[in-house]
Amino acid sequence: MATLLGRIFGKSEKRAVGVDIGSSAIKIVELYTDSGHVFLETYGSVALGPYADMEVGRATNLNKDKMQDALQKIIEESGCGAKESAVTIPFNASLVSVIRLPKVSESRLDQIIPNEARKYIPADLDEVTLDWSVIDANLDMPVDNEEGTDTRPGEGAKDEKASGVEKIDILLAAIHKESIERYKKILSDVSLNVSLFEIEVFSALRSVSPIEGSAPVAIIDIGAASSKIYIMEGGLMRSSHTVNRGSQDITTSISKVMDISIEEAEMVKRAIGAGGSYVHLQEAIHNVLERLFAETLRFIEAYENKGSRMVDRVIITGGGSSMKGLEKVAKDHLKKNISIAKPFDRVKSFPFMKEKLIQVGPEFAPALGVALRAVGVEE
Ligand SMILES: Nc1ncnc2c1ncn2[C@@H]1O[C@H](COP(=O)(O)OP(=O)(O)OP(=O)(O)O)[C@@H](O)[C@H]1O
Ligand SMILES: [Mg+2]
Repeated sequence: MATLLGRIFGKSEKRAVGVDIGSSAIKIVELYTDSGHVFLETYGSVALGPYADMEVGRATNLNKDKMQDALQKIIEESGCGAKESAVTIPFNASLVSVIRLPKVSESRLDQIIPNEARKYIPADLDEVTLDWSVIDANLDMPVDNEEGTDTRPGEGAKDEKASGVEKIDILLAAIHKESIERYKKILSDVSLNVSLFEIEVFSALRSVSPIEGSAPVAIIDIGAASSKIYIMEGGLMRSSHTVNRGSQDITTSISKVMDISIEEAEMVKRAIGAGGSYVHLQEAIHNVLERLFAETLRFIEAYENKGSRMVDRVIITGGGSSMKGLEKVAKDHLKKNISIAKPFDRVKSFPFMKEKLIQVGPEFAPALGVALRAVGVEE
């Protein structure tokens, strides 16, 4: 907490709400700063399923109006009073690459990067918003994207010393303008001004417990329809992968095996989870988790095989990680140090809320992370 306070100390006081529009739920977290501390004002989530005539916990694809209704509802219910907001952009609506360029001034980089970006971003540059930052970390290992493309900065990296030209690594992110415009409209219609957009992985990273040291860490975000795995090393995202399996598959599996409705299955999943003794229920849950963790392990091992360092630590976030008993199942399958994210640990709240915030915390990782940035906490 000391560094966190240090970072915002002296800055003027701020208030903002972080908004994370997921496929199954919208999550909001309102924070404010006071005398150098970051406080939780309120938080809330609204399931989107019912807005699409589906059950709670299901992934949806809502139109703008329905999305707005849902957002309005959660703003009212939670008593959110912020006027400034910060919004996460889904990972699949963005492109992230690492590029290596000659070391020049920042203003010169502003000119060079759009040109260079053409080589790395497979989209019309007029249709995307580019954001970039200089990476300090040493990048001698592969950075690859979902398709497994090796975006190791430039083949010329090996010849750098010989040529004598000093180079720097740039993390380049592109977001479709269309997504940004769509979110801006939704937010402005509920009277929120958007002060920043951020790709969800970077928001979530800010709010999971600080990642110390340079050893690789895997972060798994278990959402409704899919799960995302990110590998961080030396403070940088090196690799990512989407698994087409999420927590709603557990619900569907329970519903089939136990011959109960989706709604009942969702309730059973949340109430009992992976630790219960009813054999059929456990089978239904474990079947899905087994596949999810097998694919996770394959991805982690492929990463480890490309470099020399082992991924020892895995942090799990997303609503799916709130399921009882999940930590143990993950440990059994992955054989790594597993922890479930506790994003609210990063902010001050009333002591009586602590236990609840640990319980519901994982699904709020992106909303909380982007809100932290909006009130001035960058890391
Ligand atoms: N306590 C709980 N126990 C078990 N599952 C839970 C619990 N709370 C939420 N979930 C499940 O988590 C899923 C939603 O997680 P989350 O809100 O992180 O997804 P999302 O952000 O909407 O999805 P995505 O990020 O893929 O767009 C739902 O399928 C829901 O059933
Ligand atoms: Mg999500």
